[in-house]
Amino acid sequence: MNKKIAVIGGTGFGMEGEASFIDTPYGQVRAEAIELGGREVLFIPRHGEVHLPPHRVNYRAILWVAKAAGAVRVISTNTVGTMSWHPVGSFVIPIDFVEFTRSRPATFFEEETVHVDLTTPYCSEVRRALTAGAEAAGALVSDGTYVCTEGPHLESPAQIRMLRRFGDVVGMTGYPEVVLARELELCYASICIVTNPAAGMRIDSMAAAEITREMERSARLLREVIEAAISMIPEERGCSCGRALAEARL
Ligand code: HPA
Repeated sequence: MNKKIAVIGGTGFGMEGEASFIDTPYGQVRAEAIELGGREVLFIPRHGEVHLPPHRVNYRAILWVAKAAGAVRVISTNTVGTMSWHPVGSFVIPIDFVEFTRSRPATFFEEETVHVDLTTPYCSEVRRALTAGAEAAGALVSDGTYVCTEGPHLESPAQIRMLRRFGDVVGMTGYPEVVLARELELCYASICIVTNPAAGMRIDSMAAAEITREMERSARLLREVIEAAISMIPEERGCSCGRALAEARL
């Protein structure tokens, strides 16, 4: 099995293919072999079959499977709330991130000291393809900074007033994926779907089911965006993600 591109599907975004269960040092992962954008792709549903909450997702196993399958590029989908008035249903491609998580294993290197550089946390080549893919599919798209909270509860209005000083959109699943991908020298970029205004940026309270409903509304367009993006990713890597460990060890 050699799938050079992996897609990690977030809440409300699934793809059916040839399913397999793959063992990793961190546990087993279910993945689907699919064809997308003219390429063979490994699709990994982030939340598994029982919809694990964000703090219990096995992020290390997911990235490990992508690498083991031969992927060098990873596209991730994440739902987000907007802290900056993006229209619901539009897309944001993170260019940077801040995280406020507490309980997630965030490294593959427990026994040695490895500091990967995150000056450019998201692969610029994959980001470019996602932006071009979104434009080709007629989607509304912008850049932004992603703020990752621990969840599983949604934020309080005061938390959002604080977090909006740090970034543009808020979600619960973008970290530590972005860092783990870099530790495996994978190219990684995310396409975020704006499903709601964040807490306090709306008059009414918010039902979590709203996120799934909005995501379902955007799923077809998201698939088109990813398909177009995959067809635009250059065959050879022109970025430095593949050399992330060259000078990262102390
Ligand atoms: N907060 C955190 N995560 C989210 C949200 C939100 O408002 N919307 C979708 N994922």
